[in-house]
Amino acid sequence: MPQRIADLPTPALIVDLDRVDANLRRAQDYANAQGVDLRPHTKTHKGPRFARAQIDAGAAGICVAKLGEAEMMAEAGLDDVFMPNTVIGPDKAARAVALAERVRFAIGVDHPEQVAQLAAAAEGAARPLEVLVEVDVGAGRGGAAAGGVAELLRRVREAPGLRARGVYAYEGFTYTTRDRDELVARHDEAQRALLAVADATRPWLDGDERRGGAPVVSLGSTPSLLAAVPLRAGITEMRPGTYAFNDLQQARWAAASGRWQDGLAHAAAHVLASVVSVQGDRAVLDAGSKALTSDRAVGHEGHGLLVDHGLTIARLSEEHGVVEGPGVERLRVGEKIRVLMNHVCPVVNLFPVMHLVRGGEVVEALPVAGRGFLV
Ligand SMILES: Cc1ncc(COP(=O)(O)O)c(C=O)c1O
Repeated sequence: MPQRIADLPTPALIVDLDRVDANLRRAQDYANAQGVDLRPHTKTHKGPRFARAQIDAGAAGICVAKLGEAEMMAEAGLDDVFMPNTVIGPDKAARAVALAERVRFAIGVDHPEQVAQLAAAAEGAARPLEVLVEVDVGAGRGGAAAGGVAELLRRVREAPGLRARGVYAYEGFTYTTRDRDELVARHDEAQRALLAVADATRPWLDGDERRGGAPVVSLGSTPSLLAAVPLRAGITEMRPGTYAFNDLQQARWAAASGRWQDGLAHAAAHVLASVVSVQGDRAVLDAGSKALTSDRAVGHEGHGLLVDHGLTIARLSEEHGVVEGPGVERLRVGEKIRVLMNHVCPVVNLFPVMHLVRGGEVVEALPVAGRGFLV
């Protein structure tokens, strides 16, 4: 039975299905126009329902962040999973190998010790485990230096249970670039760096049998998708994730080619909160850091935007969000308001269910299947 949004107990996570559909379509159209595979990162919605919608829209497969997410997705029938993340420990190596025996599964590596553990676990496995080497192209997080990739691949080559599908990078620096010009320029540098590594290590790469043995060269983030960066020939795959829902942080990239308001129109997920009290020029919401997280958004003040009022949450404690200053008089005690969160992915991870909304009504309560999957 459809339910009115205003009847939901708060705080609640609401997801607008029409906006998700539009976001998935736009990303797939962009990937098609660029001639690359779209392999969405599902750490944003954390569940098989939207993963299937992404595949139905044309995605080549999915990405996950954790083995537990991969196992959950495989269990739900998603049969082409890449985990662009590394693991350490024989137990996790064994889980990775077991996954590759069930579905088409590949995992990232950026250190010889990871390769050694995966190689040991994959010895005698029914199917080889595919790996992609992560290259650091300036994000300063994971990833081997360009000069270390050949040696990693040599070790993969020596392991009978491993295959090297390709190389990948994560251009996380896109989040802190000032404007689209800077983003496009730095992204182009990253693409050139990744392509140079792929070229130099071509003899060591087994490649992707589905691409006739050509190696996968993969990168991707939502800012680069929303800013519609041009991709160089040789890039084969992009892996944005946040784009399915978007958030305040992404709104500036969604708006980069248009107006600010257009950025907000791409936001599919909001936290519904109640105004529980108004004290002078201060209003208190029942959504604090346990609903919105403490993540900040580059380019924005505060802890979330009350999209229908143009007000910003100034301060958070665990259960309270505080809105202060001019405009607060427009808020009524008991009113339910939509908050566009700074960063949607960890917010989804906090909620047991998301309420799916179409045409202003709640049509389904969808459990967040991968909620809290840390290992
Ligand atoms: C390795 C990797 N690939 C892709 C993504 C997706 O990027 P975004 O969150 O910008 O959509 C992430 C995000 O954390 C990531 O870590």
